[in-house]
Amino acid sequence: MEVLIRDNPDAGCILGAKIIARVVREKPDAVLGLATGRTPLRLYQELIRLHREEGLDFSKVTTFNLDEYVGLPPDHVQSYRYFMDENLFRHINIDRRRTHVPNGIAADLHEECRDYERRIADAGGIDIQLLGLGRNGHIGFNEPTGSLRSRTWIKILSEQTLRDNSEVFGSLEAMPKHAITMGIGTILDARRCLLLAFGPAKVRAVEHMVEGPLSAICPGSALQLHPRATVVLDENSAAGLRYADHYRWIDRHKLDWQRHQ
Ligand code: GLP
Repeated sequence: MEVLIRDNPDAGCILGAKIIARVVREKPDAVLGLATGRTPLRLYQELIRLHREEGLDFSKVTTFNLDEYVGLPPDHVQSYRYFMDENLFRHINIDRRRTHVPNGIAADLHEECRDYERRIADAGGIDIQLLGLGRNGHIGFNEPTGSLRSRTWIKILSEQTLRDNSEVFGSLEAMPKHAITMGIGTILDARRCLLLAFGPAKVRAVEHMVEGPLSAICPGSALQLHPRATVVLDENSAAGLRYADHYRWIDRHKLDWQRHQ
């Protein structure tokens, strides 16, 4: 796992955008795995800036989002499809038909899950998967104790996740209790993973993900198995790491070709 610690979330998001932009420049028809939540918002703003000011071209890019709430139609303001349209897609030159978010109101949800896996495979697999991290260590909506080899499926959200995300829904009761999410096995199949986690609320999850035992109790720890996983942190989320100085040392002594700048 490559651990990159930056001074603040802003610097971390700019670095994350740079990593994704490089993938798109090197492979114009790249397949991007995307995430929602507060964490990647600034990264998306930076991608929009790179598109507008530096001509970053998304016309051949395909995207697959990690997850969607069950029961929310795509035009619902809290749906992840709406989030992606508003915060990224409508600001860049992406072909909307190439953007994929699981359909939370599909008549047959199980078939929707299987079909999502097929669509990812048909696109040639994901080149880089962007991820956030739940306070309980979840990635996508893979909550603690779910199988580390799971595929896209319907998951029951934990109470902690409902509490963390309920703010935008007004109340816990108003929230969907289920979501379609790529499985951990699906995520691990991406050729690269890029996880961002910032702020003091993520300290324990980050600690377990990076340095703790590989365990279904912290789904993010599955990234320890990935051959090319990059974790971008800020000083606050990295505060609990025992080997923070080691990660900084490695970061400072990278060979030119290993740098993201
Ligand atoms: C949400 C999403 C995750 C996200 C995580 C953290 O529930 N399903 O994909 O990474 O929780 O959210 P935030 O970035 O808002 O802290």
